[in-house]
Amino acid sequence: MRCRLEGGVLELVQGDITLQQVDAIVNAANRRLAGGGGVDGAIHRRGGSAIMEETRRRYPEGCPTGQAVITAAGELPSRFVIHAVGPVWRGGTHGEPALLASAYRHCLALAVANDCRSIAFPSLSTGAYRYPVSRAARTALAAVIEFLEEREAPELVRFVLFDEATYRAYAGALGENTGVSGSGRSRGPRSSG
Ligand code: APR
Repeated sequence: MRCRLEGGVLELVQGDITLQQVDAIVNAANRRLAGGGGVDGAIHRRGGSAIMEETRRRYPEGCPTGQAVITAAGELPSRFVIHAVGPVWRGGTHGEPALLASAYRHCLALAVANDCRSIAFPSLSTGAYRYPVSRAARTALAAVIEFLEEREAPELVRFVLFDEATYRAYAGALGENTGVSGSGRSRGPRSSG
């Protein structure tokens, strides 16, 4: 599913973030930047040890929740990995929506500051951090759309959703945000519908 907004193009695909040929991919990291499972595990496995070495050297203090840091991408097809720390879901009354939106905004700002024309996001916080997917999708898309409209960059923002249910949640939320219907489905990094 592809949507042309005033400030750039927004795409939803079902797939694997580590295969994306974009300038920057986003990692769903933790505050210690210590690696883990899910997206984090897949990125470090495929990208090789250089990513963790750079992370330890440049960001020994880790990264606060709601923020992000950037490294090179090792053996991955992208140029950069942006390591974002989304909030752990604790019922929704601990500032989770603001922290989640902030994580997306920090990633986009880092991408623009590093001359990235394209960026791919996973669904931050909706795996190990248990953020309800439909709520996360609404917040994530609203944050990205607002940024694109304000800054008119990056040119392409792609959400790479791992499973069907997550893809559907984002497609539904995009419809709510933009009035675009979920029927124009696309799969894989190059297709559009
Ligand atoms: N590509 C795209 N999405 C993926 C991939 C992948 N290769 N692998 C998993 N996902 C999906 C999950 O299915 C989920 O929908 O990404 C979403 C986020 O899940 P997590 O990776 O668990 O991220 P999060 O909920 O933010 O939890 C972060 O988990 O791995 C640890 O170190 C990480 O402590 C941190 C925490």
